[in-house]
Amino acid sequence: MSSDLREDLVAALAGFYAGHPDAERYPMLSEVGDLLTTAEVVINEPMVLPVARLLTDVDSESDVPGVGPVLRTFAAAAPILHWVQTAEYAATLPQQFLDNYGYVRVIGPGGLVESSVVSAGLGVWGAGLHYPRHEHPAEETYHLLHGSASFQRDDGPWEPKVVGESVHHDPWEHHAQRFGNATCVLSWAWTGDVVVNARLVPEKS
Ligand SMILES: [Fe+2]
Repeated sequence: MSSDLREDLVAALAGFYAGHPDAERYPMLSEVGDLLTTAEVVINEPMVLPVARLLTDVDSESDVPGVGPVLRTFAAAAPILHWVQTAEYAATLPQQFLDNYGYVRVIGPGGLVESSVVSAGLGVWGAGLHYPRHEHPAEETYHLLHGSASFQRDDGPWEPKVVGESVHHDPWEHHAQRFGNATCVLSWAWTGDVVVNARLVPEKS
């Protein structure tokens, strides 16, 4: 343990990604792990959003390697983290979504670790939320850390995922998520163009 909860969170996420078995399929994860392990932590201003309250109900026990420390340090640091929402979502999605959604950039532009080549962190979505179809130029992975969720890529089937499982999205690939009946915590990682935000795309009827 360090003297700062934010440094503990960075170390826990570094431990999750460094040497993760998914790095064989998704080499970008090695880059994320390496940068998190070696970089300096910047203490940014706390900015808490309503969604942070959901972490108090999260069960941080997990048999999946690396998940428990991330959930524990995330919940402990939540009140002093800089929580954000994608600007377009904050401007357009319903209040019920916005009260139950937010994320923390652990590494990336403006993150706890500054980087212009990767962006990665932790997001929280309340039970039952539907995250509408969206796209972005970055390559992306998600790992499910708590709860359950189904993921749709392009026009493919909805694929249910459990804790420890992951999803990969190519640049500009359309994707959407539906969250199960418990608070969902996802770690996400982006490489490539990490500066351009995600944007919503019309749902297929
Ligand atoms: Fe995405």
